[in-house]
Amino acid sequence: MIGRLNHVAIVVPDLAAAAQSYSQTLGASVSEPVEMSEHGVTTVFVELANSKIELLHPLNDDSPVAKYLERNPDGGMHHICYEVEEIIAAREQLIDCGARILGDGEPRIGAHGKPVLFLHPKDFCGTLIEIEQV
Ligand code: CO
Repeated sequence: MIGRLNHVAIVVPDLAAAAQSYSQTLGASVSEPVEMSEHGVTTVFVELANSKIELLHPLNDDSPVAKYLERNPDGGMHHICYEVEEIIAAREQLIDCGARILGDGEPRIGAHGKPVLFLHPKDFCGTLIEIEQV
């Protein structure tokens, strides 16, 4: 069902410092910060040859990543995103296999303007998984 790894998302306590680590220390190409108010995060996109890294920082205390940062003050890996061809077909197949879809189960438009769903980490080795239709 899943295709390519689309991105790995990392929550960071200091977006500017994280962007600098990726650009200066690791020599990667990074975007300017992009505010995504509907997702409650500011994101810096790191472009790699074979995938992307998304550095996430909460926009406010209600942000879904604010609690993560409280529990992990140094930041850490938040989720990984796999590509799927048909998100509704993928969702039905996942539900049939007993996997839990987070939220109301309806795809939302993700950071790349494509429909996404999140899967319960307890069903996938303790890792929050995002699937994105490409
Ligand atoms: Co993501």
